[in-house]
Amino acid sequence: MSDTSIPPETLEKAHNPIEPESIPENNKPTQTGTGNPEYPWMNAQPEEERPTSTQEVNTPPRVVSATTIKTQQLSPPAAQEDSTSHEFDADPFEMSDDTASLTESINSVNYQYRYENGRRYHGFDDAVYLLPNDEQEQERLEGQHQTWLMLLGGKLHLSPLKNNIQNVLDVATGTGNWAMDFADQYPSARVTGTDLSPIQPNFVPPNCTFIVEDSEGDWVWDEKFDFIHSRTLGSTWRNWPGYFRKCYDYLKPGGYLEIHEFTFPFHCDDGTAGPENPMMQWSMYFNEACAKGGVDIEQCANLDPWLREAGFVDVTKLHLKVGFSGWSQDPEMRRISKFYGKIFDWGVSMALLTRRLGWSREKAEVFLADVRKDAADTGVHAYIPLYVYTAKRPETAVSN
Ligand SMILES: C[S@@+](CC[C@H](N)C(=O)[O-])C[C@H]1O[C@@H](n2cnc3c(N)ncnc32)[C@H](O)[C@@H]1O
Repeated sequence: MSDTSIPPETLEKAHNPIEPESIPENNKPTQTGTGNPEYPWMNAQPEEERPTSTQEVNTPPRVVSATTIKTQQLSPPAAQEDSTSHEFDADPFEMSDDTASLTESINSVNYQYRYENGRRYHGFDDAVYLLPNDEQEQERLEGQHQTWLMLLGGKLHLSPLKNNIQNVLDVATGTGNWAMDFADQYPSARVTGTDLSPIQPNFVPPNCTFIVEDSEGDWVWDEKFDFIHSRTLGSTWRNWPGYFRKCYDYLKPGGYLEIHEFTFPFHCDDGTAGPENPMMQWSMYFNEACAKGGVDIEQCANLDPWLREAGFVDVTKLHLKVGFSGWSQDPEMRRISKFYGKIFDWGVSMALLTRRLGWSREKAEVFLADVRKDAADTGVHAYIPLYVYTAKRPETAVSN
C-alpha cells in the first residue's frame, strides 16, 4: 500500500507518536485542569464549562433533519434516574410551542433515551448501535479523541486539505469533539456533525452545527462537501461499500474522505495473551454480538479495496496499535497505552452482552470484573489494531 498523499514526516510521527505536550497549539486538548498533571485534560469538567474560545457562541439552532429545513432549539435533557430495563423514558427535550410544530415529520422517539442495566442509550429503534450515550460514555469518547490525537502526532486528519477548506461533514460525531476542534482549527470551514444522539455540548464554535439523524439511511444534502470524516463506527456500520458510494456522491471533485477505525478481536504479537484471556474473550464476544446485528468489525482492517471500487483514488492506509497498560518498550506508546487503559470503559459492552448474547446483567458484571483485572496486567500484551484511510474523489469526476 502506498501512502502517496501523506507526507513521510506525518507517517513517521503517526507510527512514533509524540509527547502530548508537543501537540501543536491548535490541536491541544480543549479541556483543562490541574488534578492530573500527567494528562491534564482527563480532569472531569462539566460540558457547560468547556473553555470558550473567542469564536464560541451560545447554542446555534440545530437542524434536526437533513431532508427538511427545520431550525429548532433543543434544551438539554433533564437529569434522569436509572430506571428499569427495556423502557423508554419520557421525551428528554423541552421544546417551545412554536418550534414543536416544526418537528411533525420527525418521529419523536428519536429524542427519547432508553435506560437499561445502569446505562443510557439512544432511542432509534432501527439503528443497530448498542453502545451507551450517557456521561460515562461521553467521557470515554473524549479520552478516545485525545488518544487518537496522541497517536497521530496531534493531527486531526491526515488528508492534504486546503487551509481555506469550506464544507466539512463528520458522520456519527458522538460528542462532537473532533468536529469542534476541526471548526476551531479551520475558521473558513462550515462543519456539520451528525449523530443518533443529541449529546453534543450547547457551546460550540459558530462554524459548527450538529444534526440528529440515522446516517446509515439515505442522505439528502443541499450541498457537497470538501471533506467527509468518520471515526470508530466499526461496531455499527453494516454496509461500508454503500457508505463509500454515498460519500463519493456527496464529495466535490477533489474532495477527501477519511476513515479512522478499530478492528476486533484484539491482537497480541508475543503470546502473552491468548483466547483464554478475559480481555481477548471480551473482544471476541463484542464481535459475536455485533455480528448478530449484521456488523462485521473485522472488515475495518480491509476497507481500501471498497474505497477504490467506489471510485476513490490516492487511497492510503495507515496501521497503528494501542494497548491498555504500560507494557510497551517504547516510552511514547507506554504513555499513550496507559492513558488509553485509564479511559477505556469495558462496560460499553453491556447491551451487546445482554441484548444480543442473552447474558444477565450479573453474569456480564462478573465477567467485566475479570476483564478489568486482565487489562491492568502489564504482563498481558494485547492491543487494538487501528486503521486510518484517506481517499480522494478524482478532480475530473463529473459532479452529479
Ligand atoms: C464510538 S462513537 C464515536 C463518536 C465519534 N465519531 C468519535 O470518534 O468520538 C460512535 C457514534 O456513532 C453514532 N452512531 C452509531 N450509529 C449511527 C447511525 N446509524 N447514524 C448516526 N450516528 C450513529 C453513535 O451514536 C455514537 O455517537
